[in-house]
Amino acid sequence: MIERLFPSPATLSGTELEAEMHAAPLSRPPDGKPWVSFNFVASIDGAASVDGRSGELGNAMDQRLFLLLRHTAQVLVVGAQTIRAEGYGGPLLSPEAQQWRLEHGLSAHPPLAIVSGSLDLDPGMEVFTRAPVQPLIFTLASAPRDRRQALSEVAEVIEIGQSQLDIGQLVHQLTGRGLNSIHCEGGPRLLGTFAEAGEVDELSLTLSPLLVGGQAGRIASSAGTCVRSMVLDRVLKAESMLFLRYVRSQRQDGAC
Ligand SMILES: NC(=O)c1ccc[n+]([C@@H]2O[C@H](COP(=O)([O-])OP(=O)(O)OC[C@H]3O[C@@H](n4cnc5c(N)ncnc54)[C@H](OP(=O)(O)O)[C@@H]3O)[C@@H](O)[C@H]2O)c1
Repeated sequence: MIERLFPSPATLSGTELEAEMHAAPLSRPPDGKPWVSFNFVASIDGAASVDGRSGELGNAMDQRLFLLLRHTAQVLVVGAQTIRAEGYGGPLLSPEAQQWRLEHGLSAHPPLAIVSGSLDLDPGMEVFTRAPVQPLIFTLASAPRDRRQALSEVAEVIEIGQSQLDIGQLVHQLTGRGLNSIHCEGGPRLLGTFAEAGEVDELSLTLSPLLVGGQAGRIASSAGTCVRSMVLDRVLKAESMLFLRYVRSQRQDGAC
């Protein structure tokens, strides 16, 4: 059973949960404007991974919500280290989800956009060989030429900066392709980079009832400190797990 605790308390049926997850936050501007959302799971002591992967932090309900968040995405953005750690091979949506997207004016499969400064990615990885649509790779002009050439066979490689990633340019490149609903699935360095650039509009966070300890990092990491305020938009609860959604506070903008 899943309950909505905020803004208006209610117990949600399966259909109501789907509608809830498909609905955009009220503060989202009309279609045609970019909207950058992130999704993460963390333990109550702040760990974003267990032994280098996030799977152990979630459960079946978290996985269901994680997949529902993909339904409305026009593009899925993922950091290269998460691709190396988690794989991401093959279709990222079930046949039912693909059908739902087609019925709602979306392509069956959102393209995957990978962010990599070094291009240290094997073109033989399943994320490329089993991709239902050609992935995009955002990288630096300084990335090794041979890797870029090899990856150009399996993906569209796009430069967004000389020696530092320009996240504003990434968003611009995506919106230029008509991809305005930009959903990012991590990891922490990607969130830290987007937060520093002032490009995080929405953050869904599953708070998992676990104490993990160890040296696991938090959900955002960046070289410098960058304080961004967000506003609570929704709280769902299933047993001891909380599903929080925050949106950008109107007050802050621009790069740190
Ligand atoms: N808890 C969760 O919900 C969740 C979600 C996703 C991932 N994770 C976990 O997080 C871990 C991976 O996270 P991560 O933070 O190490 O990596 P990440 O954010 O997935 O990817 C980082 C990589 O992206 C590229 N990148 C990102 N920002 C960059 C920048 N500003 N400049 C240059 N390159 C940049 C670099 O690629 P190159 O190295 O190719 O240059 C960098 O190594 C894994 O353990 C994964 O399981 C957890």
